[in-house]
Amino acid sequence: MQKILVARPIFPDVIERLKQYFDVDWNQGDVLPADELTRRIADKDGALTAGDPIGAAVLAAAPRLRVVSNMAVGYNNFDMAAFNASNVLGTNTPDVLNESTADFGWALMMAAARRIAESEHWLRAGQWQKWTYDGFLGSDLHGSTLGVIGMGRIGQALARRAKGFNMQVIYHNRSRVAPEIEADLNAQYVSKQDLLRRADHVVLVLPYTKENHHTIGAAELAMMKPTATLTNIARGGIVDDAALVEALRSKTIAAAGLDVFEGEPDLNPDLLSVPNIVLTPHIASATEATRRAMANLAADNLIAALGEGPRAGQPPNPINPEVIGKARS
Ligand code: GLV
Repeated sequence: MQKILVARPIFPDVIERLKQYFDVDWNQGDVLPADELTRRIADKDGALTAGDPIGAAVLAAAPRLRVVSNMAVGYNNFDMAAFNASNVLGTNTPDVLNESTADFGWALMMAAARRIAESEHWLRAGQWQKWTYDGFLGSDLHGSTLGVIGMGRIGQALARRAKGFNMQVIYHNRSRVAPEIEADLNAQYVSKQDLLRRADHVVLVLPYTKENHHTIGAAELAMMKPTATLTNIARGGIVDDAALVEALRSKTIAAAGLDVFEGEPDLNPDLLSVPNIVLTPHIASATEATRRAMANLAADNLIAALGEGPRAGQPPNPINPEVIGKARS
């Protein structure tokens, strides 16, 4: 039997599925430190990760390894140049999380705009004495302009929901999406600067790459309206968190919602003392149904990539399909 490492706790029934095909080394404890991950992956044919960093050193330590299946759509934890150089396949879990993640983007955006977390903290702290006409005034979603940066599958699912709120949708992306999609979403392509200046609510849904590091920093925040909100459901590092703290403190923008952070799970501690921000622990895809779908898709990818199961040799979500069938180097 081929051997696999499952680097994180996942649904036990998915482990049972994997055990039908593989000898499974399952880490049910804390996140594996790099040295332990490297040691435990060394004799494996495949691995299932969820954000664990996999680079040249790990691949070099595991000469039999042919596939690493990430239980996430984002795969910035994989050094794809190293994967390609070693002919190791990477896979991810796109699509199954689009709708849940888009729902959550709206939840965060609305919580930021309508000051839900901030007012709830105040209420819990026993500070509510009377109703006032100007208590926690926020900004409207309906009839406003939504700015989506990153118009991939999740961005499109997010933009589609704007119809019900009668919002104007503007977007920025590496490239324009097809005219039919623009027409269907009633979305207008604009430059990043235009988007920042015009949008009432900016949502980030782009992948993290070196080029996207600090896509939103002090200069970009300064272009936004003082009444605007910023929501990040993409990846930490796309926003300069220190610059965001400063912008929220000085009311350069009105409010923010963050589900992802630079250096998470450690946060810039200043974020915790800013009232006009909603903070959640990277849970945008976290519904029972969606996390199950992601775990099962990650298992499907691993099973197929290692030549087992009904789709043997044809994993559904290869990131670098060009290495399929090539000898490990
Ligand atoms: C979660 O962050 C994912 O990339 O799926």
